[in-house]
Amino acid sequence: MSNTIFTSNNLPDLSGKTIIVTGGNSGLGAESVKVFAEQGAQIVMAVRSIEKGEEVKSTFLKVCDDLAIDVMQLDLTNLQSIKSFAQQFKAKYTKLDILLNNAGIMIPPYQTTTDGFESQMGTNHMGHFALTGLLMDVLSKTPGARVVNVSSIAHKMGKMDFNNLMYEGGKNYNATKAYGRSKLANLLFTFELQRYFEKNKIQAISVAAHPGVSQTNLFKFAADAWYAKFLLPVFKLMIQSSRMGAMPQIYASIADNVKGGEYYGPGGLREMWGYPTLVKAKDEAYNINDARQLWEVSEKLTSVKY
Ligand SMILES: NC(=O)c1ccc[n+]([C@@H]2O[C@H](COP(=O)([O-])OP(=O)(O)OC[C@H]3O[C@@H](n4cnc5c(N)ncnc54)[C@H](OP(=O)(O)O)[C@@H]3O)[C@@H](O)[C@H]2O)c1
Repeated sequence: MSNTIFTSNNLPDLSGKTIIVTGGNSGLGAESVKVFAEQGAQIVMAVRSIEKGEEVKSTFLKVCDDLAIDVMQLDLTNLQSIKSFAQQFKAKYTKLDILLNNAGIMIPPYQTTTDGFESQMGTNHMGHFALTGLLMDVLSKTPGARVVNVSSIAHKMGKMDFNNLMYEGGKNYNATKAYGRSKLANLLFTFELQRYFEKNKIQAISVAAHPGVSQTNLFKFAADAWYAKFLLPVFKLMIQSSRMGAMPQIYASIADNVKGGEYYGPGGLREMWGYPTLVKAKDEAYNINDARQLWEVSEKLTSVKY
């Protein structure tokens, strides 16, 4: 596979692989589930609504009836739910080849998760940090395992502020900046996790991807904004399909030339669309001190120790 041309015709056989996709019932997650399952993998679709997950699964099965998709409940805003998911997964499966940390929310009004985290940092980063840590034993036992974190061009708007990481009480909350911070956290975590694997001689890699700008349900909060009725129709003309948007994360998950610590995104204009290629995050995403600090804070707040 080349890293510039990546189509449905040159995907590898994934028989024997076990893959978890968080948020696998919608948008990029659903596209990823479909591709992986069609290539023969055992998929665990980790979703907050079993009903929605089963509905999407049944639409896939109508087209191809021998897909192995197991729908399991996971709410990333609730540490207890993440723990139960990890326990149930390990009771059923003995290996984990790919953990695709895809689920996310974008620009909601200020709100907190069950555990008191600002909702975007809580869902997009803390939930996936806890999930990955709780699955570390099974990842470590699976040679060649991959963790793929889905970030965004919006990470460029993010700034870490460890004095007010969670916009306590809504202080200085700006939904767009908070989203950017959570997506910057996805990258800091990706690169620190790769160092963790190397330091502990774990035969796994950590990679990041972003979809450019893609048509999914992610824009539901943007649709409520006053400017939405003017801008969204124009915006929709500019953005790529969810299938194309999913390509970088699919590539990062299964292409055989991918290396730990890499970041993939669309190769077109300003990384907004196109086929997957290797991209570079902004400099702050490679800041080792921020990455370590985020890791320590995340271990403390989630009580998940790696
Ligand atoms: N679309 C884009 O242009 C774009 C651009 C940059 C980055 N991204 C990133 O791509 C990823 C996928 O988003 P998408 O565009 O495919 O959006 P989407 O269609 O809205 O899908 C998001 C998925 O995340 C799930 N989710 C949200 N909160 C959750 C929670 N607490 N626990 C478990 N699952 C939860 C959603 O479940 P429900 O269906 O139950 O809500 C849904 O399955 C996100 O990380 C997003 O930040 C997308």
